[in-house]
Amino acid sequence: MTEALLQKAAHILQVNDLGNYTVPTHGLYPFQWNWDSCLTALGQSHLNEDRAWTEIETLFDHQWDDGMVPHIVFHKEDDGYFPGPGVWATNRPVPTSGITQPAVAGFAIKSLYDRSKDKAKAAERARALLPKVFKWHEWFYANRDPKGSGLVAIIHPWESGRDNSVDWDDAFSRVPTEGVAPFVRRDTQHADPAHRPTQAQYERYIWLVQTFRNLNWDNSKLHDASPFQIVDPGFNGILLRAVSEVAALASELGETKIAQASLAQLDRGIDALEGLWNDKLGQYTCYDRVADRLVDSPSIGGLLAAFAPIPSHRAAAIADTLNKQSQNCNFLVASHDPLDPNFDAKRYWRGPVWLIVNYMIANGLHVAGQTDIATRIDNDSLRLIETSGFAEYYDPITGEPCGGDQFTWTAAMVIEILNMSKAAA
Ligand code: GLC
Repeated sequence: MTEALLQKAAHILQVNDLGNYTVPTHGLYPFQWNWDSCLTALGQSHLNEDRAWTEIETLFDHQWDDGMVPHIVFHKEDDGYFPGPGVWATNRPVPTSGITQPAVAGFAIKSLYDRSKDKAKAAERARALLPKVFKWHEWFYANRDPKGSGLVAIIHPWESGRDNSVDWDDAFSRVPTEGVAPFVRRDTQHADPAHRPTQAQYERYIWLVQTFRNLNWDNSKLHDASPFQIVDPGFNGILLRAVSEVAALASELGETKIAQASLAQLDRGIDALEGLWNDKLGQYTCYDRVADRLVDSPSIGGLLAAFAPIPSHRAAAIADTLNKQSQNCNFLVASHDPLDPNFDAKRYWRGPVWLIVNYMIANGLHVAGQTDIATRIDNDSLRLIETSGFAEYYDPITGEPCGGDQFTWTAAMVIEILNMSKAAA
């Protein structure tokens, strides 16, 4: 059974492999996505180390001069996707979007380095990527935390990777739609519209893009100009885990300055994260920087923070919350609490399970010693694949596959989870 699953997963990676980057799935997402690639590299590393490094190197070849790593690289033209390069108009030699995505790269390069068979070669590639990843982290703290709070804000929901989470609803309702040029969506032609963001949400997504474009994508201006500034514990948790891995890798490679600066970022971030803890919900929650208030929304963002080296009593509390959730859904982890009235089992990030988030939560909880719940999450991920194939995401109650199929990061996570559990056995 395991062997057959591994083979199917490897086949999907191959089908979506365009040589030096991998598309999430043909049709719906025909370019290179930032966190997709870094998570995909984890799966690839078990099959072909060289190819895994290339996936991340290609992404960083398109890093901006200021340090930002864009959320999409439009390597080739494809008019099946909206908004394409013409809407972003970022003026890059190879067009990219103008916003970023969760900073998984630091974690990915440390994992690739640790598991590499040819250490000398891996050290060479890690040494070349390390300053670039560090520059991206510095970019985050300089541009998305201008007041030095220790935590960074996202300025567009797409940056979170959890595109239309309930977490953004309130802040997003303050984003205007006046002046949005007419457009034709492409996502609803590839996937069931009932599972996708609404038209009103889409107009707001585009309003933000147009506003940033009018500021010439100058990152020293975008944060303050955005009516949407959210401090997401999941996004910060991923960044802090990456920062801690960069610190460890840098000290192993003798890059003392990077190691020390990263440790300072880590300490400040972990302290500041504490301000997002919500005792009533047993998880972290978002903070709306414009409205200056915490967002009372029980979404997976506050559980995903367990990927970071958070205090052990916080990891234990998140494990309890997940145990409670397991009584209300068949497959962990729902992207929104199934008991909350806003839960929507099939709509994009408002309820469904995503394997990549499962992997990161389970990984953090394994490290924190919360083995029972972490193993339960891993097993639920594999059960989903066995029942429903390699979908983009799944209904947490019925296990039904949703969104795109033959999905790259889902396949990569299966390879990763199976190999990790083999290593732990
Ligand atoms: C969707 C997801 C985002 C992902 C992209 C490509 O936009 O919300 O997280 O990176 O698809 O898979």
